[in-house]
Amino acid sequence: MTVLTGRRVLLAVSGGIAAYKAADLTSKLVQAGVRLDVLLTAGAEQFLRPLTFEALTRRPVHTNLWEPWTEDSAGHVSLAADIDALIVAPATANVIARLALGLSDDLLGAVNLSTVAPLIIVPAMEHHMFHHPATQGHLGTLRERGATIVGPEQGRLASGAMGDGRMAAIESIVGALRQVLGRQATGPLAGRHIVVSAGGTQEPIDPVRGITNRSSGRMGYAIAQAAIDRGARVTLIAAPGERRPPFGADVVRITTAADLHAAVEAAVDDAAVLVMAAAVADFRPVGTAPAKIKKDRDDTVLNVALEPTTDILATIDRPGLLKVGFAAETERLVEHATGKLRRKGLGLIVANDAVQTIGAETSTATLIDRDGLAEELPTMTKEELAVRVLDRVEAILRSADEAGR
Ligand code: C5P
Repeated sequence: MTVLTGRRVLLAVSGGIAAYKAADLTSKLVQAGVRLDVLLTAGAEQFLRPLTFEALTRRPVHTNLWEPWTEDSAGHVSLAADIDALIVAPATANVIARLALGLSDDLLGAVNLSTVAPLIIVPAMEHHMFHHPATQGHLGTLRERGATIVGPEQGRLASGAMGDGRMAAIESIVGALRQVLGRQATGPLAGRHIVVSAGGTQEPIDPVRGITNRSSGRMGYAIAQAAIDRGARVTLIAAPGERRPPFGADVVRITTAADLHAAVEAAVDDAAVLVMAAAVADFRPVGTAPAKIKKDRDDTVLNVALEPTTDILATIDRPGLLKVGFAAETERLVEHATGKLRRKGLGLIVANDAVQTIGAETSTATLIDRDGLAEELPTMTKEELAVRVLDRVEAILRSADEAGR
């Protein structure tokens, strides 16, 4: 179950060459449990047949503004009323202009004017068409009205030229949908600011070497995504790594534990929750060599003196801030994690086996709260664990809200 499960979405495909990618998007959304309807503009029908999407969604595909109204369906009015979000992907320059102007002489135009559902526009076109002041003006108008614009990306275009205009990656479009649907959530995280750290810090020894760990960042990124799904405003403070950040997160890139400390200090000002999922270096080299350290002889021994870093979680202290920590342990899990929870003043700690969990896809965790209650969870993916952690975070926020009333 995610924020996508069972949600009603209309995907409108317009007539650009990127339309072929809409079939893949359709498949991904259907697999994620979205109840997806597809609308093809006349231009899209030049590239693809309705059957492609009928086979993928097992639902009728909409192409015609003049389709007869029946007892069950009032055409574009029903289509518009029956959705949680409208995605236009790809959105051509012509369709963007028509949506901005509110033209309604085709089915997409009529649905656009009739729906109160949020709009996600995924532009895809030739570089100069995208940068033309007319297109930029129309996108500005749509943005001002609350639409989410995803992409375009830079790269090779259908013409063979390089430029701006490639349709955004499927992950970004699905991410934008998650953010839009998350804004409809009403739980305790909705509208609140949550700061999440992720990945392994790097402490330089010299300009090319450093001390780091095997953290993949997956846990922190999963928490950030799960918080967006619940309508939170998310700051993701990310250590180096290739992982694509969730759509809609404010990303702050850091390298060292000291960078991370400064970034957390700056971000938590108006935050309700801080989740420290990052694997922070406990020690750093006392100094960084200004040039690459040379190996002069085969028997050279290099001694690197290390000093402790600041414990960020223990140091950050703001009244009302709910702090959540992770404890990777190799022995006496609950006892050690409970000690950390008390020492660092946490509201919740996620304890797991250090060797099993670091860099892995799954985690076997125990959640321990301030009352010492330990909830042992079965092995699950880090995305599933993120949901369980945020369930507990929301429960703690809810009881704090009730106590404050
Ligand atoms: O004490 P230990 O490092 O095991 O605690 C782990 C928790 O503390 C994690 O949530 C980690 O992100 C955080 N931490 C921190 N600053 C450090 C070291 C760890 O905030 N210097």
